[in-house]
Amino acid sequence: MKLIRVTDREALSVHAAEMIAGKVQEKPDSVLGLATGGTPEGTYQQLKKIYDRGGIDLSRVTTFNLDEYAGMPKEHPQSYHAYMQHKVFRPLQLRPEQTHLPNGTADDLEQECRRYEKHIAAAGGIDMQLLGIGENGHIGFNEPGTSFSSRTHVIQLKPSTREANARYFATIEDVPEQAVTMGIETIMESREILLLVFGRRKKEALLRLLEGEVQEDFPASVLKKHSSVTVIADEEALADVP
Ligand code: F6R
Repeated sequence: MKLIRVTDREALSVHAAEMIAGKVQEKPDSVLGLATGGTPEGTYQQLKKIYDRGGIDLSRVTTFNLDEYAGMPKEHPQSYHAYMQHKVFRPLQLRPEQTHLPNGTADDLEQECRRYEKHIAAAGGIDMQLLGIGENGHIGFNEPGTSFSSRTHVIQLKPSTREANARYFATIEDVPEQAVTMGIETIMESREILLLVFGRRKKEALLRLLEGEVQEDFPASVLKKHSSVTVIADEEALADVP
């Protein structure tokens, strides 16, 4: 893993957006794996700035998101569909056929997982996958203990993850209990991975990622086995890293 140390969230977002833009310049029909949550928001804003000044042509990219809550209608303001529409797809003028998220309201979620995998494969696989990390080490919604050989699947969210995400909902009871997520193996098949980590809340997770063992108890540790991972982290997240 290559570690890039930056001062703060702003610098991290600028750097990440430039890396994504660089990938698209090098390969205009790139398949991008995207994430939601607080971590990539600044990156998407920086990407929009690059887009607005004509610095990137996104007309040929395809995107696949990591995950979606199960049972949550796309129109729900906290769905990842809604997040992506408002913060990414509309601002960057991506056409609906360019973008993909798991359908959390499919009648048969197992079949939806298989469909999602097929779509990723048909697109030629993911060129660059953007990731955040959960305080418990999850990537996508692959919670601690998820098999490293998992593909896209339905997962039961841990109480700690529901607590962390409760900030977006009126009460913790409103946070869905399940999600559909790309599996660890699906993520590991991406040709390149960009992991973003900022803020004090993530410092234990970052320390464990950089210094700890590779084990299913800590899903992000699998990234050490990938040949092309860049971690961009800010000073607060790096506080305990020597
Ligand atoms: C989001 C995702 C999650 C988040 C992680 C960190 O699509 O898959 O793994 O990246 O929960 O969330 P934030 O960025 O809100 O701290």
